[in-house]
Amino acid sequence: MAEPIRIVVTGAAGQIAYSLLYMIARGEVFGIDQPLILHLLDIPPMAGVLEGVVMELNDCALPLLREVIPTTDPNMGFKDVSAAFLVGAMPRKEGMERKDLLSANVKIFKVQGQALDKVAKKDVKVLVVGNPANTNAFVCANYAPSIPRENFSAMTRLDQNRATAQIALKLGVSVSNVSNIIIWGNHSSTQYPDADHGKFFIEETQKSVSRAINDESYLRGAFVETVQKRGASVIAARKMSSAMSAAKAACDHMHDWWNGTAPGQFVSMGVFSDGSYNSPKNVIFSFPVEINNKKWKIVEGLTLNDFAKSKLKLTGEELQEERNEALSVLDASASNL
Ligand SMILES: NC(=O)c1ccc[n+]([C@@H]2O[C@H](COP(=O)([O-])OP(=O)(O)OC[C@H]3O[C@@H](n4cnc5c(N)ncnc54)[C@H](O)[C@@H]3O)[C@@H](O)[C@H]2O)c1
Repeated sequence: MAEPIRIVVTGAAGQIAYSLLYMIARGEVFGIDQPLILHLLDIPPMAGVLEGVVMELNDCALPLLREVIPTTDPNMGFKDVSAAFLVGAMPRKEGMERKDLLSANVKIFKVQGQALDKVAKKDVKVLVVGNPANTNAFVCANYAPSIPRENFSAMTRLDQNRATAQIALKLGVSVSNVSNIIIWGNHSSTQYPDADHGKFFIEETQKSVSRAINDESYLRGAFVETVQKRGASVIAARKMSSAMSAAKAACDHMHDWWNGTAPGQFVSMGVFSDGSYNSPKNVIFSFPVEINNKKWKIVEGLTLNDFAKSKLKLTGEELQEERNEALSVLDASASNL
């Protein structure tokens, strides 16, 4: 058997982590032959809860799980890790302004970037789930200059999975037969779910999703809105935010990063923008990517119609605003030193 690898999950006492840790420890991300040492990082008030999570992980009697290390110290949490799931973040509380939320999170992701820089493996793959995920990933990467920028990503896979499920439902096929549905931009309500390049298999023949649905008003209207507002719909119904589906999406994201995408298929990841498709540079923007040898590459040459271009512009502007606000918070805290 291979040597164990170290994986960290932050926010390990929270509700996404509760599903995510089990999925990882079962081998669903790194493979059923890959032993694991799980690092569970949370904040000091959650240390007791973490102990309970450790007990439960032990009680699962999972063959791949060699050790579980609970900690509230980022330098211990990130020590020698090969992959990091950054789930922990400051939640939005009642009456909190967007700027306050951003400001609290910028500080968390600065500290975690610095710790990753100091103690993680240099080829660590970092997935940011905690919101605002794109901007948190931007901040984290900026404080970890010794780790390549390509190793930082933000999760839009839940949005992709939601969009794929809606399309499968509409076409009456299994989700496994649908591919190449794209999420562009920010993991927020300005994201653009795009089925124009989607494909599906029926009776062993590959077909175009948009041609089969043949309903532009649905694809530009109800479909986009359902996906954009799905998080809010889950909260309204469950009185808690998406957790099981977020954990599954985090596994899918890291699984494909680790193992690659099938030929001709792409997935969506928030990654540093190089300006492709007229997106703003130097923000974490969700693009369709293909993955080979643990390296993602933005899919080039897709044709975008004017509607899509206007949606990409909107979400790109929001990401620039978020980035600039984050930078102003960091500047302000630097000048207060
Ligand atoms: N990108 C996505 O698609 C997506 C989807 C769903 C949820 N989310 C986000 O994921 C995050 C976690 O969601 P949840 O439902 O698990 O929340 P939760 O409140 O149940 O758990 C969050 C955990 O993070 C911990 N935490 C806070 N600050 C921390 C820090 N500095 N270091 C380590 N841990 C810290 C908290 O103590 C808590 O245990 C939220 O920000 C949520 O908005 C993102």
